[in-house]
Amino acid sequence: MISSTLSNALNEQIGHELSAHNHYLAIAVYFANRSLDGWADFFFRQAEEERGHAMKILHFLLDNDVAPRIPEAAEAKPAFTDAVEAVASAVKAERTVTTQFEAMMAIAHQENDYRAVPLLQWFLNEQIEEEATMGKLLDLVQSGINLFQAQDYLPTPHAGGEAGAEAGA
Ligand SMILES: [Fe+2]
Ligand SMILES: [Fe+2]
Repeated sequence: MISSTLSNALNEQIGHELSAHNHYLAIAVYFANRSLDGWADFFFRQAEEERGHAMKILHFLLDNDVAPRIPEAAEAKPAFTDAVEAVASAVKAERTVTTQFEAMMAIAHQENDYRAVPLLQWFLNEQIEEEATMGKLLDLVQSGINLFQAQDYLPTPHAGGEAGAEAGA
C-alpha cells in the first residue's frame, strides 16, 4: 500500500494531467484556426502525451490497490493574444507540473513510499524534456520567424506519451 497522502496527491495529479491535455488542445486549436497545421499537429500530439501521463498514474494507483477518482479537468480556451503567449503558457504550465512532481517525490521519501519513487523519477525526467522542448519552441516563436516557415524547425516528438506510458505501466 502507498500512503493516503501520496495516493491523494497522485489522484489530484490525474486531474492536472487531464487539464494539461485540455490546455494543449486549446493551443492546438489556436494554431489550427490559423492554418498553421504543423504547429497544430505538434500540440495535438502533446495533448495525447498528457492523456498518457494521466493514464500512467491511474494504472499505478490501480496496481497499488487504490481506487482512483476521476478528477475534473479545467476548461481551456484557445484565446491567446498571439503565438508567443500560447507557447509561453505551455512553458509556465510545464514548470508548474515539475514542482508538483517534486512535491510528490518529497512526500514519497517522508512516507517511505519507495515503490512510488521510480514512477515519480520517470515523471521528473519527462519534465526535464518537456521544459526543454517548450523552451526551444518559445525561442523559435520569439525569434520573429514566419510561423509557416518555422514549421520546418519544430522539435520531433519524443517517446514520453502513450507509448512510454504503456511501457512503464
Ligand atoms: Fe504531463
Ligand atoms: Fe507535459
